[in-house]
Amino acid sequence: MTVDNNASLKEEILRLKKEKHAVIMAHYYVPAEVQEVADHIGDSLALAQIAQKVEEPVIVLCGVGFMGETAKILCPDKTVLIPDPQAGCSLADSCPAGEFRKFVEEHPGHTVVSYVNTSAEVKALSDVLVTSSNALKIVDSFPADEKIIFGPDRNLGSYIAAETGRDLLVWDGACHVHERFSLEGILNLKKEHPQAKLLVHPECPRPVVLVADSVGSTAALLEFAVKSDASEFIVATEPGILYEMRRRAPDKTFIPAPPETSEGNVGCSCNDCSFMKLNTLRKLRDCLAAGAPEVTVDPDTAAAAIRPIQRMLDLSK
Ligand code: 13P
Ligand code: SF4
Repeated sequence: MTVDNNASLKEEILRLKKEKHAVIMAHYYVPAEVQEVADHIGDSLALAQIAQKVEEPVIVLCGVGFMGETAKILCPDKTVLIPDPQAGCSLADSCPAGEFRKFVEEHPGHTVVSYVNTSAEVKALSDVLVTSSNALKIVDSFPADEKIIFGPDRNLGSYIAAETGRDLLVWDGACHVHERFSLEGILNLKKEHPQAKLLVHPECPRPVVLVADSVGSTAALLEFAVKSDASEFIVATEPGILYEMRRRAPDKTFIPAPPETSEGNVGCSCNDCSFMKLNTLRKLRDCLAAGAPEVTVDPDTAAAAIRPIQRMLDLSK
């Protein structure tokens, strides 16, 4: 897409946004040009918190499906739109509600702590939700002997178990983007850039987490990079975050960590979330113009899912 095309699409989006009384929210992983037109950008916790506060009757959520569902559950009276309904999440898909229900039933007496990267149905089966921003704090808010099921991300689960010293019963799910980071590729990059700090999202596998200088949610990694005295960073999370890192710290250097190729070698330097990249300016414009696709959540599911979401938001204050 040319710069001119982008400029006219952006103008149209801003005009339609006003006309439709809409607010545009975007996750750090969506394409840079979409982040540029957003009123609010944030990690998944911030997007849920902002959704609760905005006054506009229409929210356009540029992210993935579970983020749109969370906003709709929190704001049932608002219209929540998403630019592409195909924008799913491999982690949420790794935890089908029917199988998760069986898992929960097989382990009575456990408190169910679920990552926000889940379907509304899985949220409805949970006692409390967490994001990568608040998982440590929320898990640690339970008594030390509390029996906890943690789903669906095995990598976040093993990070939280190690940090809190708790024995969590972890669902065996993962995100295809974060699973693919190559430890070998990262260690090679570290040799080339010995001064660089390594920033790692906790959805990455344990060996990558163990060599990190900072482990945290997208917002936490961003804060670390902005405040750090270091000037070079290797970033092991979806590279969409580099847009905001470079914007907030223009004098620093951010290097995306490499994924493995399908051949097992260290491959190209990008590790995009294909779902997040479905959010294009054109689709955002079309969605504002049509007032569709709209996010809907079954009312009974929403009624059950709001409790663990709200509990998370209350515990995050
Ligand atoms: P954050 O909670 O850090 O925004 O992460 C969301 C996500 O989808 C990570 O892959
Ligand atoms: Fe889901 Fe992974 Fe994409 Fe995040 S990066 S939205 S966890 S598939």
